Amino acid sequence: MRLKDKVAIVTGGGIGIGRAISGAFAAEGAAVVVAARTLSRLNGVVGEIKAKGGRAMAVPTDISDEKQVQSMVARALSEYGQVDILVNNSGVGGPTANVVDMDLDEWSKVLAVNLTGTMLCTREVLKAMIGRRSGVIVNIGSEGGRSGYPMRSPYCVSKMGIIGFTETLAIEVGEYNIRVNCISPAAVQGERIGNVAKARAEAQGISPEEAMARMTRNYSLKRITDPSEVAAAAVFLASDESSAVTGQTLPVNCGLYLVH
Ligand SMILES: NC(=O)c1ccc[n+]([C@@H]2O[C@H](COP(=O)([O-])OP(=O)(O)OC[C@H]3O[C@@H](n4cnc5c(N)ncnc54)[C@H](OP(=O)(O)O)[C@@H]3O)[C@@H](O)[C@H]2O)c1
Repeated sequence: MRLKDKVAIVTGGGIGIGRAISGAFAAEGAAVVVAARTLSRLNGVVGEIKAKGGRAMAVPTDISDEKQVQSMVARALSEYGQVDILVNNSGVGGPTANVVDMDLDEWSKVLAVNLTGTMLCTREVLKAMIGRRSGVIVNIGSEGGRSGYPMRSPYCVSKMGIIGFTETLAIEVGEYNIRVNCISPAAVQGERIGNVAKARAEAQGISPEEAMARMTRNYSLKRITDPSEVAAAAVFLASDESSAVTGQTLPVNCGLYLVH
């Protein structure tokens, strides 16, 4: 077990990629604190982990709210006594609109969750990690944070910010034996991508299978990533197997390439 006796906080752990990471961490021996706003989904994941003999706790949290984040980390510390790993996975996709039409509230909401929420969770766990001279932070970025993507400027900017945050923080906290890395997924299997394929199929008068084939044309592996594959990368970056890796962004993207 690669995370035996570790305590991990996974934001957005109730669904999608965060759910896969929570399950994978628990299977590797970690106690997992799953934090997001929707308690029913958090409870579902905690139930799955406990049914397999693991340890987990649900803490409903809006990560853009400073006080809720402070209280979530305090609950993790009081329940488990330490926090070894933080996965900043919560994120919102935000609006699809050109900058010229951008709604300020929508813009601000994306940055408040994706960027400020990540900073708040990180700041609170660092207070405990620095004292123990040990810790790992894994940020979930996006390939939309490594390249521009028309009509998705707040999302791209927030994820580009996550890469900058990762690199900056790694330098700040390296002397305390705290590592900070980022995973950059391209499209990942799940409800969100299924809906995109369906919508494109309807708009273009083609089958959902054909829509998905067109979507995967620019992926070397001709498929998109499974959430378990992002979770496997998170386990690697959270474990001692990556003990010399910090400040890095790891694409987990089925070989997505840009067409020139
Ligand atoms: N799916 C993809 O194709 C893909 C590709 C690249 C990167 N990513 C990134 O991977 C991460 C997870 O994506 P996903 O597709 O698995 O997510 P998802 O299914 O859209 O779920 C997003 C998660 O974020 C949580 N969240 C949203 N607002 C929050 C807030 N204010 N406070 C706390 N939690 C909040 C949601 O929980 P509540 O709504 O219950 O709060 C949910 O658990 C995101 O950062 C996303 O940008 C995803």
